[in-house]
Amino acid sequence: MNTQAETTANYKAVLALLGGEKAVTCLPGDIFTWPIVTKEHEEAVLRVIRAGSMSGLDVTMEFETEYARQIGRKYALACNNGTAAIHCALYGLGIGAGDEVICPSLTYWASITQVFSLGATPVFADIDPETLCVSPADIEKRISPHTKAIVVVHYAGMPAAMDEIMAIARRHKLKVFEDCSHAHAALYKGREVGTFGDAAGFSLMSGKSLAVGEAGIMFTDDRRVYERAILLGHYERHDKIESADLKKYAGIPCGGYKYRMHQASSAFGLVQLKLYRAQFAQIDKAMNYFCDLIDKIHGLKAVRPLAGTNTTKGGWYFPIAHYYPEKFKGLSVKRFSDAVRAEGVPCGAGCNKPLHQHPLFTEMDVYGQGKPTRIANSNGTTMKSYPEKLPVTEVINSRIIALPWFKHYRPDIIKEYAEAFRKVSQNYEKLLPGDKGSENVGGYSTSFRSR
Ligand SMILES: Cc1ncc(COP(=O)(O)O)c(C=O)c1O
Repeated sequence: MNTQAETTANYKAVLALLGGEKAVTCLPGDIFTWPIVTKEHEEAVLRVIRAGSMSGLDVTMEFETEYARQIGRKYALACNNGTAAIHCALYGLGIGAGDEVICPSLTYWASITQVFSLGATPVFADIDPETLCVSPADIEKRISPHTKAIVVVHYAGMPAAMDEIMAIARRHKLKVFEDCSHAHAALYKGREVGTFGDAAGFSLMSGKSLAVGEAGIMFTDDRRVYERAILLGHYERHDKIESADLKKYAGIPCGGYKYRMHQASSAFGLVQLKLYRAQFAQIDKAMNYFCDLIDKIHGLKAVRPLAGTNTTKGGWYFPIAHYYPEKFKGLSVKRFSDAVRAEGVPCGAGCNKPLHQHPLFTEMDVYGQGKPTRIANSNGTTMKSYPEKLPVTEVINSRIIALPWFKHYRPDIIKEYAEAFRKVSQNYEKLLPGDKGSENVGGYSTSFRSR
């Protein structure tokens, strides 16, 4: 006769997707709640609103000064979102007509799409299959006489190989921009991301690990980069411009953009700057605990830095794991993640879709120049060069599963979520009938993460 424990285990072994009981039975409470809003946040935001200073600059400048101090960079420019901050930084770095900017194709579109409006064109590079960040060797292959800069994305919180990338940039005299939108406070060999390149940008929208809400910021140590960034989209600060050749254009933003940050966000952000490092320490502990459990499960491996390298994922935005379909007789990640979701876990299949295959970058004539913008903005390139062939990027969506993002270290709860993955992994064969494949997983926005 079965003991009670055996009966329960057997019953639980029926996958929830196939009519069984869910593996996750505990209540999550606030383990996923983000951002964590305190009375202090509310009061800070109310002060701005009551003073009617939403369009002012004083709180924003305080936010910039504090963030620059914490990260250790000279100049900070806050914007109304990360897309704007990256636009300012790329213009600041001098990206202009005919320039090529090398960028990973596996990223959110706002790492690079702004170069079209600067008259430049992206050149997409492949990723490293382990870290999912841009491959230094592939960057080097794509350098041409027209290459001006490299955009590095610390993808899903994972720091890119900055030693190798900075060495390539120095050898070829290229500018480096770090898109740190997924990787606030992540460390690469003990040094914080956003402090390596000539400039760095961060999205601070409310889903990010440093969540402020529709806001972004760029940093640089180069006064000229900062002044050009101001010139592009911050006319209300043109009095800060000292360089004579830029000063004469003050008064109207040269790009025709208005990128000022809303001060309710700046006030919220100032409180976040007090709290986020302690919160990230909790997240790092919780996520490493969870990923240790995930790494013991057949066919899965968390994407995270090697232990003992003093490299971290900061706030762990968009935690993910490698999914190896060959270890599951080809079972699609979509079917696998649907089954894990049915067990009560917020997870999803895939990651960002490759930019280089989107028609914006293969055919669209954005500005009516009579040819695709990539050609119009290039120096003699033909459409034969596009789309690039990026073997790792092109298959990665079918090999990645999004993990739940725990904000608190609560081992009993976290264990149950890991158990859901283990249960599906052990019973994967039952999912093979009815598998419709992984076509169309991932996306160009962030909504695919909750699918
Ligand atoms: C890698 C990356 N870069 C840039 C951005 C753009 O930031 P925002 O949404 O604040 O404009 C995002 C936002 O999702 C992002 O994920």
